[in-house]
Amino acid sequence: MRLKGGEKIKSYHLHFYFWFWRYLMKKKIIAFGASNSRNSINQKLAGYAAGLMEGAEITILDLNDFEMPIYSTDREHKNGIPKEARHFKKLIKETDGIIISFAEHNGSYTAAFKNILDWASRVEKDMWQNKPMFLMAASPGKRGAKGVLNLAVNSISFRGGNVISSFSLPFFKQNFSETMGITDAELNRLFLSGLNQFKNFMEVGSDTISAVS
Ligand SMILES: Cc1cc2nc3c(=O)[nH]c(=O)nc-3n(C[C@H](O)[C@H](O)[C@H](O)COP(=O)(O)O)c2cc1C
Repeated sequence: MRLKGGEKIKSYHLHFYFWFWRYLMKKKIIAFGASNSRNSINQKLAGYAAGLMEGAEITILDLNDFEMPIYSTDREHKNGIPKEARHFKKLIKETDGIIISFAEHNGSYTAAFKNILDWASRVEKDMWQNKPMFLMAASPGKRGAKGVLNLAVNSISFRGGNVISSFSLPFFKQNFSETMGITDAELNRLFLSGLNQFKNFMEVGSDTISAVS
């Protein structure tokens, strides 16, 4: 086979096209802890899960970058929708998949996440754009923030999110190590099962295509 200028296609050309194609095909994932705490355990868990999405292009968000006045219809009428909300919505639209780990405040979302959700949902009705999602929650106590996780799974599914799997992590300090990840065997099995369902759906991490030689 010959290229335009008559030069023969060599193996390094194939290598280049193969890797360029893989780069173009890389799935984009955004991940964040739904908390504005600087030491958020949920930010840690979301980052850990995202780090295991081999072969994907990962963007970790910090909710502090989306701080806005508390949503009110009066504010919206007076000043419109803040640029931070439009940016958040753009990130959702442009990504292929989403990982969120929810902090539980009084059985519900943190005010920080709810405020972003309220503003961003005013940009366009279809909030979650049918994006595949892996939803998690972590808590220092024994319930593993199950209240907010149930709430999130139900309400996000209802509002156009495609929730593929979920996982909750209780007693975060005892069950999570920054270097080793989830240390309890059964919890780790449940975590990997949820993560792998998401990975399989997203078709990432399966390096089954062998390099062109
Ligand atoms: C205002 C407030 C309310 C909370 N409510 C709950 C709760 O309902 N259930 C729970 O398991 N933990 C609750 N907690 C504890 C949080 O889960 C804990 O602070 C956790 O670290 C929050 O996650 P983060 O570190 O990712 O922000 C609450 C904490 C605060 C500050």
